[in-house]
Amino acid sequence: MYDDKCKEVLISEEELKKRVAEMGAEITKDYEGKDLVIIGVLIGSFIFMADLVREIKLPMNIDFMVAKSYMGTNTTGEVRILKDVVYPVAGKDVLIVEDVVDSGFTLSKVKEHFKNRGATSVKICAAFDKPSRRVVDNLNVDYKGFVIPDKFIVGYGLDCDEEYRNIKDIRIFNP
Ligand code: IMP
Ligand code: MG
Repeated sequence: MYDDKCKEVLISEEELKKRVAEMGAEITKDYEGKDLVIIGVLIGSFIFMADLVREIKLPMNIDFMVAKSYMGTNTTGEVRILKDVVYPVAGKDVLIVEDVVDSGFTLSKVKEHFKNRGATSVKICAAFDKPSRRVVDNLNVDYKGFVIPDKFIVGYGLDCDEEYRNIKDIRIFNP
């Protein structure tokens, strides 16, 4: 089904499911009594987001935005917000859901964006974190699913040039 470039499985479907359930439980505990709005950064977060929100047992609003910093497998450092959220975030406890934190450019820009809009709190939840690639050094990832090595990964929503998002597990991309 998939080509030779992504044969190596890094994280299985079972491991993903188990970890996402743990993260959901942690977020449920932390956001009890808050005015939670979960904002997915499209496109890469869409599968993680769908799984995560169903593991959070609290009332919440859900919104999406589009931010883009990447061309192929190299970051450009320039982040553009291509689509903003639909509903105002002022007075809300915002939890940003991202697929993977790499250089950190995207999330620092997105975080600042919602702080400027008057959110009560802004936290970050990422399915994957590649700390060895970090360029922005003051970015705190509040919830992270898996810390991964400096490899380019695809599947579970993550792409390489818009391909491979529908792979069910996480694979290492070898061009
Ligand atoms: P950052 O701005 O460098 O932190 O990059 C974050 C964005 O780059 C993510 O939202 C992804 O879209 C993309 N990205 C970074 N690393 C990977 C990867 O290993 N696989 C797929 N996309 C990645
Ligand atoms: Mg991407």
